[in-house]
Amino acid sequence: MKAKITFRKDNIISKIDDRIYGSFIEHLGRAVYGGIYEPTHPTADDQGFRQDVLELVKQLRVPIVRYPGGNFVSGYNWEDGIGDKSRRPRKMELAWSSIETNEVGIDEFQEWAKRADSAVMMAVNLGTRGPDEARNLVEYCNSETDTYYANLRRQNGFENPFGIKLWCLGNEMDGPWQICSKTPEEYGRVAYETAKVMKMVDPTIELVACGSSNVNMPLWGEWERTVLRHAYDQVDYLSLHNYYNNHANDTPLFLAQSLNMDRFIKKTAAICDEIKAEKRSKKTIHLSFDEWNVWFHSGEKDRKVKRWSVAPPLLEDEYTFEDALLVGCLLITLLKNADRVKIACLAQLVNVIAPIMTETGGSVWAQTIFYPFLHASVHGRGTALATECECETYSAGDLAEIPYVETIATLGEDGETLTVFAVNRSLCEACTVDLCAEGFEDYRIVSHTALECDDLKAINTAEHPDTVSPVEKSVGNAIELAAKSWNVIVLRKN
Ligand code: AHR
Repeated sequence: MKAKITFRKDNIISKIDDRIYGSFIEHLGRAVYGGIYEPTHPTADDQGFRQDVLELVKQLRVPIVRYPGGNFVSGYNWEDGIGDKSRRPRKMELAWSSIETNEVGIDEFQEWAKRADSAVMMAVNLGTRGPDEARNLVEYCNSETDTYYANLRRQNGFENPFGIKLWCLGNEMDGPWQICSKTPEEYGRVAYETAKVMKMVDPTIELVACGSSNVNMPLWGEWERTVLRHAYDQVDYLSLHNYYNNHANDTPLFLAQSLNMDRFIKKTAAICDEIKAEKRSKKTIHLSFDEWNVWFHSGEKDRKVKRWSVAPPLLEDEYTFEDALLVGCLLITLLKNADRVKIACLAQLVNVIAPIMTETGGSVWAQTIFYPFLHASVHGRGTALATECECETYSAGDLAEIPYVETIATLGEDGETLTVFAVNRSLCEACTVDLCAEGFEDYRIVSHTALECDDLKAINTAEHPDTVSPVEKSVGNAIELAAKSWNVIVLRKN
Protein backbone atom coordinates (compact mmCIF):
# COMPACT_ATOMS: atom_id res chain seq x y z
CA MET A 1 0.00 0.00 0.00
CA LYS A 2 1.14 3.57 -0.69
CA ALA A 3 0.30 6.90 0.94
CA LYS A 4 1.23 10.46 0.04
CA ILE A 5 1.52 12.78 3.03
CA THR A 6 1.64 16.49 2.20
CA PHE A 7 2.05 19.57 4.38
CA ARG A 8 3.35 23.09 3.84
CA LYS A 9 5.38 25.37 6.05
CA ASP A 10 2.89 28.23 5.62
CA ASN A 11 -0.28 26.18 6.09
CA ILE A 12 -0.67 25.89 9.83
CA ILE A 13 -3.62 24.79 11.93
CA SER A 14 -2.54 26.56 15.09
CA LYS A 15 0.07 26.81 17.77
CA ILE A 16 -0.31 23.73 19.96
CA ASP A 17 -1.30 24.46 23.53
CA ASP A 18 0.94 22.23 25.70
CA ARG A 19 -2.01 21.62 27.99
CA ILE A 20 -3.44 19.12 25.49
CA TYR A 21 -0.96 16.73 27.12
CA GLY A 22 -2.71 16.98 30.47
CA SER A 23 -3.85 14.05 32.56
CA PHE A 24 -6.06 13.30 35.52
CA ILE A 25 -5.81 11.93 39.07
CA GLU A 26 -9.07 11.22 40.85
CA HIS A 27 -9.62 9.90 44.36
CA LEU A 28 -10.74 6.64 42.82
CA GLY A 29 -9.42 3.11 43.29
CA ARG A 30 -5.62 3.04 43.62
CA ALA A 31 -4.89 6.26 41.73
CA VAL A 32 -3.89 8.14 44.87
CA TYR A 33 -3.39 5.52 47.60
CA GLY A 34 -1.04 2.83 46.28
CA GLY A 35 -0.54 4.90 43.13
CA ILE A 36 1.08 8.29 43.53
CA TYR A 37 1.11 8.06 47.35
CA GLU A 38 2.33 5.14 49.44
CA PRO A 39 4.39 6.20 52.47
CA THR A 40 5.51 2.63 53.24
CA HIS A 41 6.81 1.97 49.72
CA PRO A 42 10.62 1.56 49.42
CA THR A 43 10.78 4.46 46.95
CA ALA A 44 8.57 6.83 49.01
CA ASP A 45 10.01 10.32 49.47
CA ASP A 46 9.75 12.55 52.57
CA GLN A 47 6.04 13.18 51.84
CA GLY A 48 5.10 9.60 51.06
CA PHE A 49 5.07 10.00 47.25
CA ARG A 50 6.35 7.06 45.23
CA GLN A 51 9.42 8.22 43.36
CA ASP A 52 9.28 5.30 40.94
CA VAL A 53 5.85 6.57 39.84
CA LEU A 54 7.00 10.18 39.78
CA GLU A 55 9.84 9.24 37.46
CA LEU A 56 7.47 7.77 34.88
CA VAL A 57 5.03 10.68 35.24
CA LYS A 58 7.88 13.12 34.62
CA GLN A 59 8.84 11.26 31.45
CA LEU A 60 5.34 11.98 30.14
CA ARG A 61 5.84 15.73 30.64
CA VAL A 62 2.26 16.25 31.76
CA PRO A 63 1.76 20.04 32.10
CA ILE A 64 -1.53 19.87 34.03
CA VAL A 65 -3.25 17.23 36.17
CA ARG A 66 -6.98 17.47 36.79
CA TYR A 67 -7.89 16.80 40.46
CA PRO A 68 -9.64 15.50 42.63
CA GLY A 69 -12.38 14.20 40.28
CA GLY A 70 -14.29 13.11 38.29
CA ASN A 71 -17.41 11.82 39.94
CA PHE A 72 -15.61 11.96 43.29
CA VAL A 73 -15.61 15.75 43.36
CA SER A 74 -19.41 15.97 43.43
CA GLY A 75 -19.49 14.66 46.99
CA TYR A 76 -16.17 16.05 48.22
CA ASN A 77 -15.60 18.50 51.05
CA TRP A 78 -12.17 19.96 50.35
CA GLU A 79 -11.81 21.07 53.96
CA ASP A 80 -11.62 17.35 54.97
CA GLY A 81 -8.27 17.06 53.21
CA ILE A 82 -6.30 19.91 54.80
CA GLY A 83 -4.43 20.38 58.09
CA ASP A 84 -3.31 17.81 60.65
CA LYS A 85 -3.54 14.37 59.00
CA SER A 86 -4.41 12.58 62.24
CA ARG A 87 -7.58 14.65 62.57
CA ARG A 88 -8.87 14.22 59.02
CA PRO A 89 -12.23 12.42 58.80
CA ARG A 90 -12.73 9.00 57.23
CA LYS A 91 -15.74 9.34 54.97
CA MET A 92 -18.12 7.24 52.90
CA GLU A 93 -17.24 8.11 49.32
CA LEU A 94 -20.49 7.76 47.42
CA ALA A 95 -19.36 8.03 43.80
CA TRP A 96 -17.30 4.82 43.93
CA SER A 97 -18.73 3.23 47.13
CA SER A 98 -15.30 3.37 48.77
CA ILE A 99 -13.84 4.75 52.00
CA GLU A 100 -11.91 8.01 51.68
CA THR A 101 -9.30 8.48 54.42
CA ASN A 102 -8.44 12.04 53.35
CA GLU A 103 -4.77 11.37 54.00
CA VAL A 104 -4.13 13.20 50.74
CA GLY A 105 -5.89 16.47 49.99
CA ILE A 106 -5.16 19.67 48.12
CA ASP A 107 -2.12 20.54 50.30
CA GLU A 108 -0.41 17.27 49.44
CA PHE A 109 -1.58 17.12 45.85
CA GLN A 110 -0.24 20.52 44.88
CA GLU A 111 3.09 19.44 46.40
CA TRP A 112 3.00 16.22 44.35
CA ALA A 113 2.18 18.18 41.19
CA LYS A 114 5.21 20.41 41.79
CA ARG A 115 7.40 17.33 42.15
CA ALA A 116 5.93 16.00 38.90
CA ASP A 117 6.81 19.31 37.15
CA SER A 118 3.12 19.82 36.58
CA ALA A 119 0.30 22.17 37.61
CA VAL A 120 -3.03 21.37 39.23
CA MET A 121 -6.26 21.77 37.22
CA MET A 122 -8.72 21.95 40.11
CA ALA A 123 -12.36 20.88 40.04
CA VAL A 124 -14.90 22.32 42.48
CA ASN A 125 -17.90 20.46 43.87
CA LEU A 126 -21.11 21.62 42.22
CA GLY A 127 -22.98 18.48 43.28
CA THR A 128 -23.56 18.53 47.03
CA ARG A 129 -22.05 22.02 47.31
CA GLY A 130 -21.94 25.28 45.44
CA PRO A 131 -20.54 28.81 45.02
CA ASP A 132 -19.70 29.37 48.68
CA GLU A 133 -17.29 26.44 49.06
CA ALA A 134 -15.87 27.12 45.61
CA ARG A 135 -14.98 30.73 46.37
CA ASN A 136 -13.50 29.68 49.72
CA LEU A 137 -11.31 27.13 47.97
CA VAL A 138 -10.07 29.77 45.50
CA GLU A 139 -9.22 31.99 48.48
CA TYR A 140 -7.43 29.11 50.23
CA CYS A 141 -5.38 28.27 47.15
CA ASN A 142 -4.71 31.61 45.53
CA SER A 143 -5.20 34.52 47.86
CA GLU A 144 -2.58 36.69 49.56
CA THR A 145 -5.11 38.57 51.68
CA ASP A 146 -5.12 38.59 55.49
CA THR A 147 -8.43 36.70 55.55
CA TYR A 148 -9.74 33.45 57.00
CA TYR A 149 -9.06 30.89 54.23
CA ALA A 150 -5.79 32.42 53.07
CA ASN A 151 -4.67 32.41 56.71
CA LEU A 152 -5.81 28.81 57.09
CA ARG A 153 -3.44 27.90 54.26
CA ARG A 154 -0.62 29.76 56.01
CA GLN A 155 -1.46 27.97 59.26
CA ASN A 156 -1.16 24.67 57.38
CA GLY A 157 2.39 25.57 56.39
CA PHE A 158 1.95 27.27 53.02
CA GLU A 159 2.89 30.92 53.21
CA ASN A 160 2.77 31.39 49.44
CA PRO A 161 -0.43 30.87 47.47
CA PHE A 162 -0.55 27.77 45.29
CA GLY A 163 -1.48 29.91 42.27
CA ILE A 164 -3.88 27.45 40.64
CA LYS A 165 -4.91 28.95 37.31
CA LEU A 166 -7.28 26.44 35.77
CA TRP A 167 -10.57 25.37 37.41
CA CYS A 168 -13.42 23.04 36.43
CA LEU A 169 -16.96 24.04 37.41
CA GLY A 170 -18.06 20.62 38.63
CA ASN A 171 -17.95 17.34 36.74
CA GLU A 172 -20.38 15.68 34.32
CA MET A 173 -23.33 17.45 35.92
CA ASP A 174 -25.77 16.07 33.32
CA GLY A 175 -25.05 12.43 34.23
CA PRO A 176 -27.76 10.63 36.26
CA TRP A 177 -24.89 8.81 38.04
CA GLN A 178 -23.47 12.12 39.23
CA ILE A 179 -24.06 13.00 42.89
CA CYS A 180 -26.72 15.77 42.68
CA SER A 181 -26.85 15.93 38.89
CA LYS A 182 -28.59 18.92 37.35
CA THR A 183 -30.82 19.96 34.48
CA PRO A 184 -29.15 22.23 31.90
CA GLU A 185 -30.98 25.25 33.36
CA GLU A 186 -29.96 24.41 36.93
CA TYR A 187 -26.35 23.83 35.97
CA GLY A 188 -26.13 26.84 33.66
CA ARG A 189 -27.31 29.13 36.47
CA VAL A 190 -25.06 27.68 39.16
CA ALA A 191 -22.05 27.57 36.82
CA TYR A 192 -22.56 31.25 36.02
CA GLU A 193 -22.95 32.34 39.64
CA THR A 194 -20.07 30.15 40.85
CA ALA A 195 -17.81 31.42 38.10
CA LYS A 196 -18.67 34.98 39.06
CA VAL A 197 -17.70 34.65 42.72
CA MET A 198 -14.59 32.59 41.96
CA LYS A 199 -13.38 35.29 39.59
CA MET A 200 -14.20 37.97 42.15
CA VAL A 201 -11.71 36.26 44.47
CA ASP A 202 -9.11 35.76 41.75
CA PRO A 203 -9.78 37.44 38.38
CA THR A 204 -6.77 35.72 36.80
CA ILE A 205 -8.20 32.19 36.91
CA GLU A 206 -9.61 30.37 33.87
CA LEU A 207 -12.80 28.35 34.09
CA VAL A 208 -14.09 25.25 32.34
CA ALA A 209 -17.86 24.69 32.21
CA CYS A 210 -19.19 21.14 31.94
CA GLY A 211 -20.34 20.02 28.54
CA SER A 212 -22.27 16.76 28.26
CA SER A 213 -20.75 13.65 29.84
CA ASN A 214 -20.34 12.14 26.40
CA VAL A 215 -21.61 12.63 22.88
CA ASN A 216 -24.40 10.06 23.31
CA MET A 217 -26.12 11.75 26.23
CA PRO A 218 -29.81 12.34 25.45
CA LEU A 219 -29.52 16.11 25.95
CA TRP A 220 -26.25 16.50 24.06
CA GLY A 221 -26.38 19.79 22.15
CA GLU A 222 -29.28 21.22 24.11
CA TRP A 223 -27.15 20.95 27.27
CA GLU A 224 -24.24 22.84 25.67
CA ARG A 225 -26.51 25.57 24.28
CA THR A 226 -28.37 26.15 27.53
CA VAL A 227 -25.25 26.14 29.69
CA LEU A 228 -23.47 28.58 27.39
CA ARG A 229 -26.50 30.87 27.14
CA HIS A 230 -26.22 31.28 30.91
CA ALA A 231 -22.47 31.18 31.49
CA TYR A 232 -20.79 32.32 28.25
CA ASP A 233 -19.45 35.58 29.60
CA GLN A 234 -17.94 34.06 32.73
CA VAL A 235 -16.31 30.89 31.41
CA ASP A 236 -13.35 30.27 29.15
CA TYR A 237 -13.68 26.65 28.04
CA LEU A 238 -16.35 24.01 27.58
CA SER A 239 -15.52 20.42 28.50
CA LEU A 240 -15.87 17.29 26.37
CA HIS A 241 -15.57 13.76 27.75
CA ASN A 242 -15.52 10.52 25.80
CA TYR A 243 -14.25 7.00 26.33
CA TYR A 244 -13.88 4.45 23.54
CA ASN A 245 -14.32 0.69 23.68
CA ASN A 246 -13.92 -2.42 21.61
CA HIS A 247 -16.77 -4.41 23.14
CA ALA A 248 -17.66 -5.59 19.63
CA ASN A 249 -14.13 -6.95 19.16
CA ASP A 250 -14.06 -5.32 15.74
CA THR A 251 -10.56 -3.86 15.41
CA PRO A 252 -11.03 -1.99 12.10
CA LEU A 253 -14.08 -0.23 13.58
CA PHE A 254 -12.36 0.35 16.91
CA LEU A 255 -9.35 1.98 15.25
CA ALA A 256 -11.70 4.33 13.40
CA GLN A 257 -13.16 5.79 16.61
CA SER A 258 -10.90 8.82 16.24
CA LEU A 259 -13.18 9.89 13.37
CA ASN A 260 -15.99 10.07 15.90
CA MET A 261 -13.79 12.10 18.24
CA ASP A 262 -13.09 14.49 15.38
CA ARG A 263 -16.82 14.96 14.64
CA PHE A 264 -17.57 15.42 18.32
CA ILE A 265 -14.98 18.21 18.59
CA LYS A 266 -16.16 19.97 15.43
CA LYS A 267 -19.85 19.80 16.38
CA THR A 268 -19.15 21.12 19.87
CA ALA A 269 -17.01 23.97 18.52
CA ALA A 270 -19.88 24.85 16.15
CA ILE A 271 -22.29 25.08 19.08
CA CYS A 272 -19.89 27.36 20.96
CA ASP A 273 -19.73 29.62 17.90
CA GLU A 274 -23.51 29.57 17.49
CA ILE A 275 -23.88 30.97 21.01
CA LYS A 276 -21.05 33.42 20.35
CA ALA A 277 -23.03 34.77 17.39
CA GLU A 278 -26.28 34.79 19.34
CA LYS A 279 -24.62 36.82 22.08
CA ARG A 280 -22.73 39.02 19.63
CA SER A 281 -19.69 38.18 21.73
CA LYS A 282 -16.09 38.87 20.75
CA LYS A 283 -14.89 36.00 22.91
CA THR A 284 -14.35 32.50 21.53
CA ILE A 285 -14.99 29.58 23.85
CA HIS A 286 -12.28 26.96 23.40
CA LEU A 287 -12.55 23.29 24.24
CA SER A 288 -11.20 21.27 27.13
CA PHE A 289 -11.32 17.54 26.24
CA ASP A 290 -10.63 16.79 29.88
CA GLU A 291 -11.51 13.09 29.92
CA TRP A 292 -10.53 10.84 27.03
CA ASN A 293 -9.17 7.35 26.74
CA VAL A 294 -10.04 3.75 26.01
CA TRP A 295 -12.12 2.30 28.88
CA PHE A 296 -13.89 -1.06 28.88
CA HIS A 297 -11.58 -3.86 30.00
CA SER A 298 -12.18 -3.60 33.73
CA GLY A 299 -16.01 -3.63 33.79
CA GLU A 300 -16.48 -7.27 34.83
CA LYS A 301 -13.72 -7.19 37.51
CA ASP A 302 -15.11 -3.96 38.97
CA ARG A 303 -18.46 -5.57 39.68
CA LYS A 304 -16.70 -7.99 42.07
CA VAL A 305 -14.92 -5.31 44.09
CA LYS A 306 -15.94 -5.12 47.75
CA ARG A 307 -17.88 -1.96 48.62
CA TRP A 308 -16.65 0.39 51.32
CA SER A 309 -12.98 -0.48 51.25
CA VAL A 310 -9.99 1.85 51.08
CA ALA A 311 -8.34 2.16 47.66
CA PRO A 312 -9.99 -0.87 46.01
CA PRO A 313 -8.60 -1.96 42.61
CA LEU A 314 -11.17 -0.19 40.42
CA LEU A 315 -11.04 0.64 36.69
CA GLU A 316 -7.70 -1.13 36.30
CA ASP A 317 -7.88 -1.63 32.56
CA GLU A 318 -5.02 -3.65 31.12
CA TYR A 319 -4.29 -1.98 27.82
CA THR A 320 -3.60 -3.96 24.69
CA PHE A 321 -1.48 -3.09 21.69
CA GLU A 322 -4.59 -2.18 19.67
CA ASP A 323 -5.62 0.24 22.44
CA ALA A 324 -2.26 1.98 21.98
CA LEU A 325 -2.96 2.31 18.25
CA LEU A 326 -6.30 3.98 18.92
CA VAL A 327 -4.74 6.26 21.56
CA GLY A 328 -2.24 7.26 18.84
CA CYS A 329 -5.13 8.08 16.45
CA LEU A 330 -6.90 10.07 19.20
CA LEU A 331 -3.74 12.09 19.91
CA ILE A 332 -3.40 12.87 16.20
CA THR A 333 -7.05 14.00 16.22
CA LEU A 334 -6.46 16.34 19.16
CA LEU A 335 -3.51 17.82 17.26
CA LYS A 336 -5.61 18.20 14.10
CA ASN A 337 -8.02 20.28 16.18
CA ALA A 338 -5.34 22.32 17.94
CA ASP A 339 -7.11 25.52 16.89
CA ARG A 340 -10.06 24.69 19.21
CA VAL A 341 -8.84 22.10 21.71
CA LYS A 342 -6.57 23.95 24.11
CA ILE A 343 -6.77 21.53 27.02
CA ALA A 344 -7.07 17.74 27.08
CA CYS A 345 -6.62 15.22 29.87
CA LEU A 346 -5.82 11.58 29.30
CA ALA A 347 -8.03 9.92 31.90
CA GLN A 348 -6.40 8.91 34.03
CA LEU A 349 -2.70 8.81 34.98
CA VAL A 350 -1.93 6.03 37.48
CA ASN A 351 -3.69 2.65 37.99
CA VAL A 352 -7.19 3.89 37.08
CA ILE A 353 -7.63 3.55 33.26
CA ALA A 354 -4.03 4.68 33.16
CA PRO A 355 -0.78 4.58 31.22
CA ILE A 356 1.12 3.87 34.46
CA MET A 357 0.40 0.84 36.65
CA THR A 358 1.74 -0.12 40.06
CA GLU A 359 1.63 -3.00 42.46
CA THR A 360 0.91 -1.69 45.93
CA GLY A 361 4.22 -2.29 47.71
CA GLY A 362 5.78 -3.46 44.44
CA SER A 363 6.84 -2.43 40.97
CA VAL A 364 5.69 0.14 38.46
CA TRP A 365 5.41 -0.30 34.72
CA ALA A 366 4.28 1.46 31.55
CA GLN A 367 1.15 0.16 29.83
CA THR A 368 0.97 0.03 26.04
CA ILE A 369 -0.83 3.41 25.82
CA PHE A 370 2.05 5.07 27.68
CA TYR A 371 4.13 5.16 24.50
CA PRO A 372 2.01 7.11 22.01
CA PHE A 373 1.22 9.60 24.76
CA LEU A 374 4.92 9.91 25.63
CA HIS A 375 5.92 10.44 22.00
CA ALA A 376 3.20 12.99 21.30
CA SER A 377 3.92 14.90 24.50
CA VAL A 378 7.66 15.00 23.89
CA HIS A 379 7.67 15.59 20.12
CA GLY A 380 4.26 17.12 19.43
CA ARG A 381 4.78 20.64 20.75
CA GLY A 382 5.08 23.80 18.71
CA THR A 383 2.79 24.21 15.70
CA ALA A 384 0.31 21.81 14.13
CA LEU A 385 0.55 21.79 10.34
CA ALA A 386 -2.44 21.14 8.08
CA THR A 387 -1.60 17.68 6.77
CA GLU A 388 -3.21 15.89 3.84
CA CYS A 389 -2.96 12.18 3.33
CA GLU A 390 -3.85 10.48 0.06
CA CYS A 391 -4.28 6.79 0.77
CA GLU A 392 -6.74 3.93 0.45
CA THR A 393 -9.77 3.94 2.69
CA TYR A 394 -12.10 1.33 4.16
CA SER A 395 -15.54 1.11 5.76
CA ALA A 396 -16.43 -0.32 9.15
CA GLY A 397 -19.72 -0.26 11.05
CA ASP A 398 -21.44 3.02 10.25
CA LEU A 399 -18.17 4.69 9.24
CA ALA A 400 -17.04 5.06 5.64
CA GLU A 401 -13.92 6.48 4.02
CA ILE A 402 -11.71 5.65 6.96
CA PRO A 403 -8.17 6.39 5.79
CA TYR A 404 -5.76 3.53 6.43
CA VAL A 405 -3.18 6.10 7.45
CA GLU A 406 -3.99 8.66 10.15
CA THR A 407 -1.35 11.33 10.30
CA ILE A 408 -0.28 14.84 11.26
CA ALA A 409 2.92 16.84 11.10
CA THR A 410 4.10 19.29 13.72
CA LEU A 411 6.87 21.87 13.64
CA GLY A 412 8.79 22.04 16.92
CA GLU A 413 9.22 25.14 19.05
CA ASP A 414 12.82 25.46 17.78
CA GLY A 415 11.41 25.94 14.24
CA GLU A 416 13.91 23.36 12.97
CA THR A 417 12.43 20.01 13.99
CA LEU A 418 9.56 18.44 12.13
CA THR A 419 7.68 15.44 13.46
CA VAL A 420 5.29 13.26 11.50
CA PHE A 421 2.99 11.09 13.61
CA ALA A 422 1.28 8.28 11.71
CA VAL A 423 -0.83 5.24 12.49
CA ASN A 424 -1.21 2.56 9.84
CA ARG A 425 -4.66 1.10 10.54
CA SER A 426 -4.24 -1.73 8.07
CA LEU A 427 -3.99 -5.03 9.92
CA CYS A 428 -2.14 -6.80 7.14
CA GLU A 429 -0.42 -4.36 4.77
CA ALA A 430 2.63 -2.19 5.25
CA CYS A 431 2.49 1.26 3.73
CA THR A 432 5.21 3.08 1.82
CA VAL A 433 5.03 6.82 2.39
CA ASP A 434 5.80 9.55 -0.08
CA LEU A 435 6.47 12.58 2.13
CA CYS A 436 5.93 16.01 0.54
CA ALA A 437 7.19 18.50 3.11
CA GLU A 438 6.75 21.73 1.16
CA GLY A 439 9.00 24.51 2.40
CA PHE A 440 11.13 22.00 4.29
CA GLU A 441 13.29 20.85 1.36
CA ASP A 442 16.52 21.02 3.39
CA TYR A 443 15.20 18.66 6.07
CA ARG A 444 16.23 15.03 6.43
CA ILE A 445 14.87 12.17 8.47
CA VAL A 446 16.89 11.66 11.66
CA SER A 447 14.81 9.03 13.42
CA HIS A 448 11.82 6.75 13.01
CA THR A 449 10.40 5.30 16.22
CA ALA A 450 7.58 2.78 16.00
CA LEU A 451 5.28 0.70 18.14
CA GLU A 452 4.67 -2.60 16.40
CA CYS A 453 3.46 -5.97 17.58
CA ASP A 454 2.11 -9.11 15.90
CA ASP A 455 -0.46 -9.63 18.63
CA LEU A 456 -3.18 -6.95 18.77
CA LYS A 457 -4.15 -8.14 22.24
CA ALA A 458 -0.63 -8.08 23.75
CA ILE A 459 -0.32 -6.26 27.09
CA ASN A 460 2.49 -5.19 29.41
CA THR A 461 2.48 -6.63 32.93
CA ALA A 462 4.60 -6.41 36.10
CA GLU A 463 6.36 -9.64 35.03
CA HIS A 464 6.66 -8.69 31.35
CA PRO A 465 6.71 -4.89 31.27
CA ASP A 466 8.27 -4.61 27.79
CA THR A 467 6.10 -6.87 25.64
CA VAL A 468 4.87 -3.79 23.78
CA SER A 469 7.56 -1.15 23.65
CA PRO A 470 8.93 1.20 20.99
CA VAL A 471 11.60 0.21 18.50
CA GLU A 472 14.02 2.40 16.58
CA LYS A 473 13.77 1.76 12.83
CA SER A 474 16.67 2.19 10.46
CA VAL A 475 16.43 5.45 8.59
CA GLY A 476 16.79 5.51 4.81
CA ASN A 477 15.17 7.46 2.02
CA ALA A 478 11.91 5.54 2.04
CA ILE A 479 9.52 5.51 4.97
CA GLU A 480 7.61 2.33 5.57
CA LEU A 481 4.80 2.10 8.12
CA ALA A 482 4.42 -1.51 9.20
CA ALA A 483 0.93 -3.01 9.21
CA LYS A 484 -0.82 -2.02 12.49
CA SER A 485 1.75 0.42 13.77
CA TRP A 486 2.24 3.77 15.49
CA ASN A 487 5.09 5.83 14.04
CA VAL A 488 7.02 8.94 14.97
CA ILE A 489 9.28 10.26 12.22
CA VAL A 490 11.55 13.14 13.12
CA LEU A 491 13.16 15.38 10.51
CA ARG A 492 15.75 18.09 11.08
CA LYS A 493 17.23 20.88 9.04
CA ASN A 494 20.51 19.86 7.41
O1 AHR B 1 -12.54 8.70 34.79
C1 AHR B 1 -13.50 7.90 35.39
C2 AHR B 1 -14.86 8.57 35.51
O2 AHR B 1 -15.38 8.73 34.23
C3 AHR B 1 -14.86 9.96 36.08
O3 AHR B 1 -14.93 9.97 37.46
C4 AHR B 1 -16.10 10.56 35.49
O4 AHR B 1 -16.00 11.95 35.33
C5 AHR B 1 -16.28 9.81 34.19
O5 AHR B 1 -17.57 9.35 34.05
